[in-house]
Amino acid sequence: MRLTRLSVAAVLALPLAVTPASAGPGPRPQPITVAGVLPAPARVSPSPERFILTPATTIAAEPAAVPMAEQLAAALRPATGFRLPVSEGGAISLRFDNAITGEGYRLTVHPDRVELRAGTPHGLFNGVQTLRQLLPTAIESDTVQQAEWTIPGGEIEDTPRFAYRSAMLDLARHFHTPDEVKRYIDQISRFKINYLHLHLTDDQGWRIQIDSWPRLTAVSGAPGTGVRGLGGGFLTKSDYRDLVAYAAERYVTIVPEVDMPGHVNAAQVAYPELTCDGVAPKPRIDIRVGYSSLCAGKEVTYRFAEDVIRELAVMTPGPYLHIGGDEAHSTPHADYLRFQERVLPLVQKYGKITIGWQEIAAANPGNAIIQYWNHEAEMPETAGKVIMSPANRAYLDMQYDLLTPGGLHWAGTTEVDDAYSWDPGDLLPAVPEGRVLGVEAPLWSETLRDLDDIEFLAFPRLVAIAEIGWSARSDWDSFRTRLGAHGPRWTRQKVRFYSSPQIPWLRESAAR
Ligand code: ACM
Repeated sequence: MRLTRLSVAAVLALPLAVTPASAGPGPRPQPITVAGVLPAPARVSPSPERFILTPATTIAAEPAAVPMAEQLAAALRPATGFRLPVSEGGAISLRFDNAITGEGYRLTVHPDRVELRAGTPHGLFNGVQTLRQLLPTAIESDTVQQAEWTIPGGEIEDTPRFAYRSAMLDLARHFHTPDEVKRYIDQISRFKINYLHLHLTDDQGWRIQIDSWPRLTAVSGAPGTGVRGLGGGFLTKSDYRDLVAYAAERYVTIVPEVDMPGHVNAAQVAYPELTCDGVAPKPRIDIRVGYSSLCAGKEVTYRFAEDVIRELAVMTPGPYLHIGGDEAHSTPHADYLRFQERVLPLVQKYGKITIGWQEIAAANPGNAIIQYWNHEAEMPETAGKVIMSPANRAYLDMQYDLLTPGGLHWAGTTEVDDAYSWDPGDLLPAVPEGRVLGVEAPLWSETLRDLDDIEFLAFPRLVAIAEIGWSARSDWDSFRTRLGAHGPRWTRQKVRFYSSPQIPWLRESAAR
C-alpha cells in the first residue's frame, strides 16, 4: 500500500523510545534447555538429565524415516566431525507414531537415548529443527569444533497453532538469485515456516519464464530492469523447479504469485497489446504503484491470464496459486469485477486453490483464500479462509526505526515487539480464529539488493511471525530471552541480523 504513505512528520512523531513492554534488558539468557526453543513448543518439561553426543553415537531410523535421519546427521557432522551413521539401531532414534498427527512431534531426551517421534515426515523434520537448537551454538559451524555436545534432558510435545506459516520474497522489484532464495529457505525452515510465497511479477520486472509469452522475461527480466535499473534477472522453469524441490526437502511449499490486473507495467512493456490503447508504456524503475492495469475489455487479456496461470500451475506441485489483485487503482471497479469473474475460475480450472490479496474479497471470490495486508482498509466479508499479514506488524520491509538502513516506512516503523505483539486469531472481529489459515511475513524488495539486505530486515522479525503462527501462547519476555540466546547461532551461520535495543542479549552476541 505504497500510496498512502505516512508523512515524514507523522513518522517522526511516532514513539522512537523503547515501549514499556520492552523496558529493561530482560532476563539473561539461560544455559540451553528444552524451554529455550524458537518458536515456543506447545508443551515442555525440562529435566536435569542430559545426553552427550560422542564419536560413537549412531542414529536409528525405520526405513521411511531414513531421509530425515540423514538430514539430521548431515546437519551435525560438520561441527562435530563425528561419523553419525544412520542404521537400524542407535541412541538417537527417529520413528513414526500414528498417535501424533500432522506436523506435530514428540522429542524425549534421556541420558542414554534421544527419541524423536512423529506421525509424518514433516513432523520428524520439525522435531529435527528443534533438536538442532538444543545443541551448543558451535553446532552451527561448518568446520570441526571442540565442544561438549550436550543435549539438555526433558520432553517436548509440539504441534502448530496454524497450518499456514509463510514468508514472502519479492523477486520483481529486485531479482534475487536461486542461491539467495535457497539460503532464505534454509533459514525460514529452521523456524518451522512451511510456505514461501514468491512475488514473481510487478511493474518493474517479470521474473518467471512463460514459454507462450517469451518476451515477458526476454524484455522485462533483462539486465537493467527492476528498481533503479539494478534488479535484473529471472527464474527459468528449470530454476523454478529446482527451487520447488529444494524447498520441499525442507517442508516448505512454494506459492507463486502473478500480480493482476494491476502491477503489470513490465508485462505491458513486453506486450503492448495488453494495454487498452495498444501503446507500449515506458519501463519503470521507480517505486510508485497503482498506475498500470490490464484491459478488462480485451480478449487478449484473458488469453494472457490463462496461459500464465496454466504454465505456473503445471510447474507448481503445491496446492496454491496467488493471483495478486492488490492496488489496482487504475482499473475501474466494474472492470475489476469483470476481470476477476473471468480469471478466478481459471485457477480452479488448472487444479489450484486461489490466494489473492485482500482487494479480491470485493469480487465474490467464493472460497478463495484472502491475504489481509492493508490495516487501514476494510476487509470485505468473504467465505474463504484468511492469511494474516497486516503491513504494520508483519511486513518485514518496514524499517525498525527511522535510523536503520534499508526498508520503507509507509506503514510506520516496526520494532521487534510490534512484530510480535498481536494475535491473528482476534485481529479482525469478522475473522474468528477458525477462519484464519495462518500468517505471512512479506518482504518487499524496493530497497533490497542482496542477501545481507534481506537478512537484516528479516531477522529477528521473521522469528516473531513464525512464533505467532506456531505457538499457542505468546510471552514477550520469554520470546526476547530465547531470541537473545539465538544471536550467537546467527553469528556462527554468518546470518546478518538487526541487534535490536529491545533485546540487549542479542546486541551482545552481534558484537562478539
Ligand atoms: C501490497 O502490499 N500491495 C499487497
